[in-house]
Amino acid sequence: MVYGVILAGGIGSRMGGDKPKQYLTVKEKPIIIYTIEKFFAVPDIEKIIVLCPKQWVEHTKNLIEKHIAPAQPRVAVIEGGETRNETIMNAIKFIEDEGCLDDETIIVTHDSVRPFVTNRIITENIEYAKKFGACDTVVPATDTIVESDDNVVISSIPDRSKMYQGQTPQSFNALKLKKMYYALSDEEKNILTDAAKIFIIKGERVALVQGETYNMKITYPYDLRVAKSLLEEEEND
Ligand code: CTP
Repeated sequence: MVYGVILAGGIGSRMGGDKPKQYLTVKEKPIIIYTIEKFFAVPDIEKIIVLCPKQWVEHTKNLIEKHIAPAQPRVAVIEGGETRNETIMNAIKFIEDEGCLDDETIIVTHDSVRPFVTNRIITENIEYAKKFGACDTVVPATDTIVESDDNVVISSIPDRSKMYQGQTPQSFNALKLKKMYYALSDEEKNILTDAAKIFIIKGERVALVQGETYNMKITYPYDLRVAKSLLEEEEND
């Protein structure tokens, strides 16, 4: 089975404010609803799991009833985890508890705060995850990437033509991801920035899916202004 896994377990500390950023309304709907709608529109996504902080579970269910469809069996809302990767593991546990975790299970994990993902990006994620076991959505780096080991001076400037910026979705064979994650040492877990790195640490291939620059992540208040303009454009298309 192919699952959409919407990661909404964070609190949005960089955005500030009194609620997690995924619940902020841009134009007429909360950001998380625009994101879920994109997954709803892809028939190959058989079920969607939305993971959010415990105290937001009921609210999220209500939002989905109101904006998407009442009593929607295609979507489940459950509690996220302490870290982003723990949130993903909660999704896999949910699939396992439903008796649906097998060699063929694919999860398309996506930040709830990237509402501009496209049908093409989601569909290619499914295709590449099936073919390679893991894939990551990226765009070529536009700025030169500079590395500093000590945060004071530059230690290297990698060849920009080989540099990409990671977006989401990141998609995986769920069983493989689970096995590799629980085989990591605490030290390895501490250096994880995202789930694709679990495959990299274990020497496994992760395929590239071409993203889009407008598949932006809403992180800071400035991003909200950009998102509003993009949503207005989408509406006028
Ligand atoms: N996320 C999650 N579970 C966590 C932490 C983050 O599902 N324990 C989700 C966020 O809700 C978000 C996505 O991962 O949709 C990307 O993370 P980020 O932009 O860093 O979100 P926050 O952790 O909420 O933001 P901040 O780092 O500013 O607190």
